[in-house]
Amino acid sequence: MNTLDDIKGSNLPRHIAIIMDGNGRWAKQKGKLRIFGHENGVGTAKRTVESCVKLNIEYLTLYTFSTENWKRPKLEVDTLMNILVSSLRKELKTFVKNNVRLNTIGDISLLPKKAKRELAEVMEKTKENKGLTLTLALNYGAREELKKAVQTIAGKVKNNIISPENIDETIINNHLYTHNLPDVDLLIRTSGEHRISNFLLWQIAYAELYFIAVFWPDFREHHLVEAIKNYQNRERRFGKTSEQLN
Ligand code: IPE
Ligand code: IPE
Ligand code: MG
Repeated sequence: MNTLDDIKGSNLPRHIAIIMDGNGRWAKQKGKLRIFGHENGVGTAKRTVESCVKLNIEYLTLYTFSTENWKRPKLEVDTLMNILVSSLRKELKTFVKNNVRLNTIGDISLLPKKAKRELAEVMEKTKENKGLTLTLALNYGAREELKKAVQTIAGKVKNNIISPENIDETIINNHLYTHNLPDVDLLIRTSGEHRISNFLLWQIAYAELYFIAVFWPDFREHHLVEAIKNYQNRERRFGKTSEQLN
């Protein structure tokens, strides 16, 4: 089995993003309620953060709740929010100990008050941390993000702050939730689904995609290592030829 030592050192992804999928099916397989899967998924998230810390990964972004996930049964949505609050409360000390800075993307203004309060507290208490930046995507949808950016930029054009000819990729990027994050290098999705589900559309333009047919609660450090090892063996050409790179 792969260990962290197999991949340490050079050519690590700077920014890993994960679509943590399969909690519900994992629970169903065990004859349990979907919620049981979400509760178990938290442990995987915690361990993944710790593995990334050990590897000195700079950015880890976790798809935690999408703009579309509000359509789920109210009990499931409420439980997910409660799990978020209790996990943040419980893991603050893990973040502090590991020099992790908490960040969010998505419109968190629509989250329950107690979730906003907990997020604000953990972000405040970790804001000076210089290790891993852990970004939770909460009420995040890439199309909503792009819509919001277009609205803001259009407002600036209207008020003569920006002229249309000057709108470039940097300006667009600066108006996204991810303005302070680098592009994603490696995107992992668990559960066997091969889709993006409205996650980071702009930011994954040149990400390496990695799909694994393991439900999120079963995702272990060796799976992460395998994903990174796979990434390290790919040639990222960014439109160039292989010869140009060498
Ligand atoms: C991912 O697991 C967690 C969230 C989307 C919040 P799912 O709940 O989507 O689990 P499956 O995909 O139904 O198995
Ligand atoms: C994506 O998973 C959202 C999160 C992991 C938070 P979903 O389970 O919601 O995606 P779909 O519905 O299968 O595309
Ligand atoms: Mg799912």
